[in-house]
Amino acid sequence: MHWTNCAAAVVIATALAMMTPTAGGQATAMKPAEQMSQTAGANERNWWKNAVIYEIYPRSFQDSNGDGIGDLNGITKRLDYLKALGVDAIWLTPIYPSPQVDFGYDISDYRNIDPRYGTLQDFNRLVAEAGKRHIRVIMDMVMNHTSDQHQWFLESRSSRTNPYRDWYVWRDGKGETATSKGEPPNNWESLFGHSAWQWDPKTRQYYYHKFYIQQPDLNWNNPKVHQAFKDIISFWLERGVAGFRFDAITTLYEDPTFTDERVILGKDGKPLRNAYGDPELDNSKTDNLPGVHDVIHEMRETIDKFNTSAFPGTRVMIGETYLPNIAQLAKMYGTPAAPEFELPMDTQVAFINKLDVAAFRARLTDVETRIGDHVPLLLFDNHDNPRMVTRYGDGVHDLDIQRALATVLFASRGTAMFYYGDEIGMVTTPPKRKQDVKDPIGITGWPKEKGRDGERTPMQWNASADAGFTTASAKPWLPVPPSAATINVAAEQNNPDSLLTWYSELIRLKKTNPAFEHGSNIMLDTENDKVLSWMRQAPGARQVVVSVNFTAQPQTVNLAAGGPGLKPARLTTLLKTPGGADATSLDRIALGPFGVYIGELQ
Ligand code: GLC
Repeated sequence: MHWTNCAAAVVIATALAMMTPTAGGQATAMKPAEQMSQTAGANERNWWKNAVIYEIYPRSFQDSNGDGIGDLNGITKRLDYLKALGVDAIWLTPIYPSPQVDFGYDISDYRNIDPRYGTLQDFNRLVAEAGKRHIRVIMDMVMNHTSDQHQWFLESRSSRTNPYRDWYVWRDGKGETATSKGEPPNNWESLFGHSAWQWDPKTRQYYYHKFYIQQPDLNWNNPKVHQAFKDIISFWLERGVAGFRFDAITTLYEDPTFTDERVILGKDGKPLRNAYGDPELDNSKTDNLPGVHDVIHEMRETIDKFNTSAFPGTRVMIGETYLPNIAQLAKMYGTPAAPEFELPMDTQVAFINKLDVAAFRARLTDVETRIGDHVPLLLFDNHDNPRMVTRYGDGVHDLDIQRALATVLFASRGTAMFYYGDEIGMVTTPPKRKQDVKDPIGITGWPKEKGRDGERTPMQWNASADAGFTTASAKPWLPVPPSAATINVAAEQNNPDSLLTWYSELIRLKKTNPAFEHGSNIMLDTENDKVLSWMRQAPGARQVVVSVNFTAQPQTVNLAAGGPGLKPARLTTLLKTPGGADATSLDRIALGPFGVYIGELQ
């Protein structure tokens, strides 16, 4: 479903374009009543339910000023590309002022734009230009921690009696004396390696940081922290953003006993060790504690205040929800009385990391049957993990494998999210030498953990030396991978057999075929361990079948043989992989290696 209520969309875009810049370069939003007409229709309310969301890592997408770092004006320049692809919304990883230790996830001011990326005016222009193309802008919201350079933390660490002291998590060391800092309060570890406690000599206490030392955790037991974030969220909603992706949401709270986490032992009875050489802990005292749900609901209430006729459309909450199972994921949607995320990320399907038909079928069935009426948010990639071709490819059929996975992503029920460059088949290209690593975990963990630079390389727009990412004279902040010579937008744009064309075609089908728009997902041929087949079925619409060969050998399937009452029927082809699939009837669908067939029953 496109953001089809064009009239209202233009009203919004015009209103946003009318934001008035002030002398300091800041822009003030117009009042809602002036801003929008009362035209919220069902299409706008539901825009996120069958949506396509594109994740942009702004540093790496498009540089417009020749400093080798991507920026907001660069993104604005590329909106027509995103529009042509059929994208409904872009999620921008953090663009707020930041010392950039964690490339923006260490925020020092939540109400401005980092000068490396532009200004608030550039941001307003991006939102307005995106709106004209019916593309919504989703911000990243980091509530677990701030930068150690944020004013709140500078105050907090300045003295034990400062009013901001209890905005963060401070504890005494174990066995501390006047001359020694003692030991950290407990065995908790940073996800980025080593102790999660940092000694602060000025006030002689340790502060807690789940991520980098420069990212002190906020204290969510303090009501002032809650209020501060409600205000920040409102600040951006007033500027026309369509929602937020809530970062590291499961780690907001720590167990109030502050006791040690359990060390996980291997078969030999010794602690398992992670890439940093630390013992593996069970995370039971620092992850997914119950208070998290109250905060999500509280933020949902704040955001829902904007979902009125004065602000047409729905602002959505996406969650960074790495969870161990579907039951935990289901909880993240909340209850009718206390709703939480509209779209918690489903990491169950994304990280199977093996072309295992039974595993895909089981996880997709979970998503269909165990989250009630909610909408799944499917994805394969983001800026924290090796790209999908690197995780699923076999080095021989990589293009076909990516087509097969993209089919799972876009032809399944729900909202689909993908990461810039997936649509052209960008590959993870990690640094070869430790001295080239930019992501600090790649330095701490070298060589086992090379960091996340490899999946953050510049977007490959064309085959030139800078891949069209920056100007010829500038050095991109991460090197352009050699694969840019063949894997790039310019090479794929007019090639009917390219991955980019396959993505566009799948997205077009997702948005225009009624069974894809509204239909449920029903697995077919469920004993087959080589081919994943399913049906999309919506009342009043023709049924659509999808078959994806998960093997390198040709396969044939008969979808009339079993399943939910399907009779041998004639099929009209909607989409098939180039040279790799064919069918005229449900009882014989032929698929080449990793081939895909999508057909409509007549
Ligand atoms: C999230 C982000 C990741 C960041 C971390 C700490 O997991 O996706 O990039 O490093 O939070 O903010």
